[in-house]
Amino acid sequence: MRQNLRVNGARLWSRLERLAEAGALPDGGVNRLALTEADRQGRDLVVGWMRELGLAVTIDAIGNVVGLRRGREDGLPVMMGSHIDTVRTGGRFDGALGVLAGLEIVQTLDDAGVVTRRPLAVAFFTNEEGARFQPDMFGSLVFTGALPLEKALATVGVDGAVAGEELARIGYAGEAPVGRPNVHAYVELHVEQGPTLEAEGCTIGAVEGVQGISWTELTLNGQSNHAGTTPMRMRRDAGYVAAEIASYVRRLARDIGGNQVATVGALTLTPNLVNVVAEKALMTVDLRNTDNERLMEAERRLADFVAKTAKAEGVTVETRSLARFDPVAFSAPLVHRVESIAREFELSVKRLPSGAGHDAQMLAAVCPACMIFVPSAGGVSHDIEEYTAPEHCAAGADVLLRLVTELAA
Ligand code: GLV
Ligand code: MN
Ligand code: MN
Repeated sequence: MRQNLRVNGARLWSRLERLAEAGALPDGGVNRLALTEADRQGRDLVVGWMRELGLAVTIDAIGNVVGLRRGREDGLPVMMGSHIDTVRTGGRFDGALGVLAGLEIVQTLDDAGVVTRRPLAVAFFTNEEGARFQPDMFGSLVFTGALPLEKALATVGVDGAVAGEELARIGYAGEAPVGRPNVHAYVELHVEQGPTLEAEGCTIGAVEGVQGISWTELTLNGQSNHAGTTPMRMRRDAGYVAAEIASYVRRLARDIGGNQVATVGALTLTPNLVNVVAEKALMTVDLRNTDNERLMEAERRLADFVAKTAKAEGVTVETRSLARFDPVAFSAPLVHRVESIAREFELSVKRLPSGAGHDAQMLAAVCPACMIFVPSAGGVSHDIEEYTAPEHCAAGADVLLRLVTELAA
């Protein structure tokens, strides 16, 4: 194997720019929510590239797409991948980088005439974001057998659409079976989406694992009434309880400390009018921690606060878990190898945990898995301003290239 092989950073960048045209937002950034028309356009583009590169494309029953490059021998492939869906106001790099770097690696090996011993695969998984259909990492959960296919297909999205119907509508309900992943190892290149690498002047992150994630939906039911005539003592105000919860989660994160983060990202009041006490509030709480004990403590404290505050206001509560994942540790030898390859390439490197959820955390349950991070400018992600410099994208892809060719040797 040629030790000095490097990717073509300009070619990778140009594919990133072209994929960003699918679902492009007027002010920059991308809206490619899972299983929408924009997602279909993005999928068609990437599948077209896979076919141009001679990959054998399979699509499974939840719409995960795998492009396979033959090895000198048969056997389980070394898989690269990520996702191409985005949040509604997403960036051009989250997910896309890992998938398009996989294609770039295939093309680099083709150009150099290198055929690895094991096959290589480039995959993109359906609905990683979970912004439209919950939970997140939906496609990789089905791929690895952790979420039943029927349940995933029946999932109703935030817009009332049914995942299985949308999958069929965009033409990506494939035939390949799910739940029997045959993968030798999985490596995902991704943007950090946080501030650490940039702040420390590091180019490569060797990701040790992913923090635990807990998503809860709360429906608060009160009584709608006139804002001018209803005495304060007689109110059953769902909006007030929601606001108390939103402010409590900030205190909760501060009190628990360490890595605890807590977010109310969605809140809708009904009827949402200036002069009407809200009868209903629909809200979400996202809690995350690298330490599962502390995450469970945060969940308990939140549940107590919600129950107590709602009761005092005469508001009833319905609670629904949207996602719950324990923290995941990646394969120690692979994390170590990411670090050592970066050093061999004279790239600055740092070990860190991932704050965001990733398909790699699901693959880690079925094969050795790891992730490579590259810096996010200003630590901004899930936003149209998301940006990673071309040289950082290329550096991450170089590390990916070296690691997967070693794993496939
Ligand atoms: C998914 O990308 C998440 O971390 O919210
Ligand atoms: Mn992502
Ligand atoms: Mn994301």
